[in-house]
Amino acid sequence: MLRRLVVTAAAGLAVASFAAHGALAQDTIKIGIVQSLTGQLTAVGKQVMGGVNLYVQQHGNTVAGKKIELVVKDDTTVPDVAKRLAQELIVNDKVNILTSGITPASFAIAPLATQSKVPTVIMVSGTSSATERSPYMVRTSFTLGQQTGIMGEWAAKNGSKKVFIIQSDWAPGAEATQVFTESFTKAGGQILDTVKVPLANPDFAPFLQRARDANPDTLFVFVPAGQAGLFAKQFVDRGLAKAGIKLIGPGDITDDDDLPRMDDSIIGTVTAGIYSADHQSAVNKAYVEAFKKLNGFRPNFISLGGYDGMHAIYEALKKTNGNTDGDAVIAAMKGLKWESPRGPISIDPETRDIVQNIYIQKVERKNGELYNVQFSTFEAVKDPIKAAKKQM
Ligand code: PHB
Repeated sequence: MLRRLVVTAAAGLAVASFAAHGALAQDTIKIGIVQSLTGQLTAVGKQVMGGVNLYVQQHGNTVAGKKIELVVKDDTTVPDVAKRLAQELIVNDKVNILTSGITPASFAIAPLATQSKVPTVIMVSGTSSATERSPYMVRTSFTLGQQTGIMGEWAAKNGSKKVFIIQSDWAPGAEATQVFTESFTKAGGQILDTVKVPLANPDFAPFLQRARDANPDTLFVFVPAGQAGLFAKQFVDRGLAKAGIKLIGPGDITDDDDLPRMDDSIIGTVTAGIYSADHQSAVNKAYVEAFKKLNGFRPNFISLGGYDGMHAIYEALKKTNGNTDGDAVIAAMKGLKWESPRGPISIDPETRDIVQNIYIQKVERKNGELYNVQFSTFEAVKDPIKAAKKQM
């Protein structure tokens, strides 16, 4: 009898000590953040981290009773580096959650997310298939197709007949062009030609010359955030603005980071985008003010992937009560719905992709500064490439 008591007590102790150790290990939730902080797309990394840091500043570093620790790494805009860093974060730092950035980096990280079952939030990539590369990925950014499908329809209905396309030569550019071309030609428009500009160190001038020679009424352009300023300058220098050629595209080409440095020739440019710093809501007014105060620059559409990505993580952890199991966190993120500074958004439970409003917006000078002024809203738009696959 006595022996049995001693054994039971010892077993109880062992369980208690295991539980204490487990609880200790679980007192901190580590979030590995891999973004492009240097290299070609530094402008992107700067914005996404601006959003991440603001979210943590506003919401604190404790969720469901656990301390949140961010481990931030710079992928230098090189996908192999992103992959190595993600591997180190998973194996050495034992992060519980990961976030990825641009398309090539997100593609490189996807197999690691699958193998390790570490839930991963895609904060930047705009390529449709990124979320299909791993069941442990959820997107809080956007897809190019979401914007350019709407743009194609709108352009055809609003006087564009002959369009020349200039596209940055990588996956999101290909999708911007593909979806725009489908929707614009379906609505009766004609594409004169499509030219592709290298992503690294682009010189748009020769492509703009070809565009001008083709005599389109409208130029459709996709360049990533951070290249819009240079593009706008060369668009003006090559005389396309003076020739009366309309400029349209996804929100990237007049992004809020570059816009304040553009000249008035860009006024009138129409884009279909996910966000404007001028978006009229109380939530956005507070966001812009706080973001500028913390970071010293205007937030653009990229910043929301970081800000809302942290929101998805915090809300999922509240739902799981701090459990970081990959399946539990992803299940908790599916169907999340909230008001972002960009407007109402949700995570599609079927695809783990973001559903959001797309706004038609025009560049105007407002209170002395250039802004994308939104004048028409398409509500709760899903990624059209996935929607088309579903119908097949
Ligand atoms: C992407 O990584 O897919 C990406 C990055 C910047 C953009 C658009 C897309 O402006």
